[in-house]
Amino acid sequence: MIRSLLYVPANSEKKIRKAPQIKADAIVFDLEDAVPEAEKDNARRLLESILSESSYREQLRSTKRVCLRVNSMYTRNFYWDILIVYNLDPIDCIIIPKAETDLSFIYKATGRTLMAIIETARGFTRIESIASSEGLDSLILGVADLALSVGGSLESYERNTYIRTKLVLAAKAYGLQAIDKVYFNIDDIEGFKREALEAKALGYNGKQVIHPNQVSIANEVFKPTREEIEWAKKVVDAYEKAIREGLGAIRLEGRLVDHVHYRLAKRILESAS
Ligand code: COA
Ligand code: MG
Repeated sequence: MIRSLLYVPANSEKKIRKAPQIKADAIVFDLEDAVPEAEKDNARRLLESILSESSYREQLRSTKRVCLRVNSMYTRNFYWDILIVYNLDPIDCIIIPKAETDLSFIYKATGRTLMAIIETARGFTRIESIASSEGLDSLILGVADLALSVGGSLESYERNTYIRTKLVLAAKAYGLQAIDKVYFNIDDIEGFKREALEAKALGYNGKQVIHPNQVSIANEVFKPTREEIEWAKKVVDAYEKAIREGLGAIRLEGRLVDHVHYRLAKRILESAS
């Protein structure tokens, strides 16, 4: 499970070197929007050089996922980005921005796990054909590009529950992880936490993060709380006893517990282990 997905501009040597110390579940070296057009070649060369250092690769070993966010499939840069993936062994995942179509061909050509950012009007209307792509393991919500794509405002799309829920439904229907939007106000830690808790309640597994101060909060929020684990243990024990007695629905501390609650509890215990 990816609780925190940290973007690192691929043209910043300082940030690339700092990234492994930040303890995000996933690091994303970004070649897309954090890198100006004139810097794309330099960024690719910088990444190739740092990722070939054995000491740096060693530092990445404790990171669950090491990803590259490539440029949009509709640009020439996309093809240059994919070419460097073949030389970058530590990259085990490719993030496709502005996804609007079946992405299986990218998995077939690279063998790397894919994550798709859904952030355009077409991406949302074709979300199922993207979600069913071979090799895909996560859908990621992008609200800034979505606002741009539909001619709406960022503020409105930051608060839009319809698209946030729609992405989770598509992800879960296809057995994928759902990763929530970026919180752009880096200094507002409370706001970040509030938004992360909302995302968790909707079914999101984690959140995109852009600054070190957001990482530990995302890691904390997206793991089950002590209260959730204690309640889940009670439910599992009580329900398994009930099953042995031939019961499928019971009262536990004043609440109904049936098969779906049992499965929810089991899932909490699994994600805690
Ligand atoms: N990855 C790695 N290191 C980062 C980082 C990141 N995303 N964001 C900040 N840091 C480092 C800084 O280099 C600094 O290191 P230092 O203490 O060794 O000097 C430290 O963390 C504190 O950073 P701070 O000075 O508060 O931030 P900043 O003003 O340098 O940078 C941003 C602010 C927003 C430019 C920066 O966080 C960033 O580049 N984020 C990612 C942007 C991105 O990739 N966007 C695309 C996806 S939306
Ligand atoms: Mg975007």
